[in-house]
Amino acid sequence: MLLSRARRQSPRGDPARESVDDCNSKITKSEPNDVTPSRAHTHGDANERRMLSKAVARAMMLRAPTDGGSRIARMAAATNQRRNATMTTSCIRHQFGDDVVRVVDSHRRSTMSGGRGRVAMRSISSSSSGGSGVTEPDAGAATESKPARRKRVLSGVQPTGSIHLGNYFGAIKNYVKLQDDYDAFYCVVDLHAITAGGHDPAGLEASTKTSAAIYLAAGVDPDKANVFVQSHVPAHSELCWLLNCVAPIGWLEKMIQFKEKARKAGEEVSVGLLDYPVLMAADILLYKADLVPVGEDQRQHLELTRDIAGRVNSLYGGKKWKKRKGKAPSGRSRGGDVLLVPEAFTPKEGGRVMSLTDGASKMSKSNPAEGSRINVLDTPDEIAKKIKRCKTDAFEGLEFGNAERPESQNLLTIYQLCTGMTQEEVLAECGSMRWGDFKPRLTDAVIEHLSPIQGRYNEIMADPAYLEGVLKRGADNANEVANITLRDVRDALGFVQY
Ligand code: AMP
Ligand code: TRP
Repeated sequence: MLLSRARRQSPRGDPARESVDDCNSKITKSEPNDVTPSRAHTHGDANERRMLSKAVARAMMLRAPTDGGSRIARMAAATNQRRNATMTTSCIRHQFGDDVVRVVDSHRRSTMSGGRGRVAMRSISSSSSGGSGVTEPDAGAATESKPARRKRVLSGVQPTGSIHLGNYFGAIKNYVKLQDDYDAFYCVVDLHAITAGGHDPAGLEASTKTSAAIYLAAGVDPDKANVFVQSHVPAHSELCWLLNCVAPIGWLEKMIQFKEKARKAGEEVSVGLLDYPVLMAADILLYKADLVPVGEDQRQHLELTRDIAGRVNSLYGGKKWKKRKGKAPSGRSRGGDVLLVPEAFTPKEGGRVMSLTDGASKMSKSNPAEGSRINVLDTPDEIAKKIKRCKTDAFEGLEFGNAERPESQNLLTIYQLCTGMTQEEVLAECGSMRWGDFKPRLTDAVIEHLSPIQGRYNEIMADPAYLEGVLKRGADNANEVANITLRDVRDALGFVQY
């Protein structure tokens, strides 16, 4: 219900402006009836279509949104916009793949809204505020002549248990990928880690540091990204409170993770567990994050974040804010959207790494069976043992995409991710293997992939002053950005500030 309402209200209802979020959800479902190129091609002018296809194909060759890729994708997006955006995202994905969808979609949004993304579009169409939209002192005005602000990315992992391959491939690896092209904020979400209730303080303290060290060991570069601890930025808690008074409780009660965890916690379930996604929304919205790299299990929380941001904007932004005249504390004019509606970034492979003991359930920190997951810090011996004992099946050979063989899908995917090979290469090498031949190969690949990360991790942990410095610097920067948003939200809600 929540989701369908959101779909009706949000610009995602317009197929020409599908978000990365939508693309990803369709990939997951792999809908056979997705808009086919031929159908989409019945719209628009043939020349422009050709231009778009060419540009997209070149962007695909470049794959990542490098400068060249961006320029080409921008061209594609502009072309697309001119012909009223009739080539849908699903059509582009169908033809050219996901990397291109991300590039094109992102630039389509920039070009359509003068560089400030979809929220600005929404404010133009849904309020008569003249579309002043979301601006920050560092953002520049949203006119074509001024440069758009650098896009932001925010994400976090809870310092609970050990970080495993699911966390790594589903989230952390993408932190590294995105840090070059985005202003990046990566936090260790310690306030989330206590929502289960009755946590171990010594464990939280240790895990907060090891989680941060794993970010860095995995390749997050503190000179490119701000790495910090969530509780070091008090604005997270304050915005969470303000959003608590905006988010209807029914929205929270529908969250799958809440329902699952609450069932396990029984009578003891904490208010914090119900409120968990609102705190997550605060994390994201404080930084006006455009993109949020997460595993698939977090997509519903991302949808909720989008709904909460939309509700704040419609209740307190636009005309109502503008009528109070003057400037917001950040220096922007009052009016337009208060918060930016973010998008999820979920990798096609690795968005849902499955358990080693059951290919149908997610690899998770909370599974009591240690053999169900490979942790980033596992020793070669532990990795070998876990893979040796992991669940297999009785089919001949190995394959992707057979719904009856979740273990084959999962273990081949882990192999693919660890080696950096394509699916085709993996199949050519391993398709006709027996499990007994494949397992040692997988073991070697996992050990080889994790070994340099573990080496760097040990170095970082041997120098506590370095880690402390990184986290302090990260928190200083994060506080600065977060407080700008928080003060504007307080202003929009009518709080007196001096
Ligand atoms: P958590 O450990 O719950 O804080 O999760 C941290 C990040 O890892 C989130 O972005 C999750 O979506 C992601 N994640 C957790 N488990 C998996 C999994 N099995 N596969 C892929 N991503 C995952
Ligand atoms: N809820 C996320 C998880 O369990 C962790 C998280 C908290 C998060 N705040 C966030 C992820 C903000 C992305 C952005 O994995």
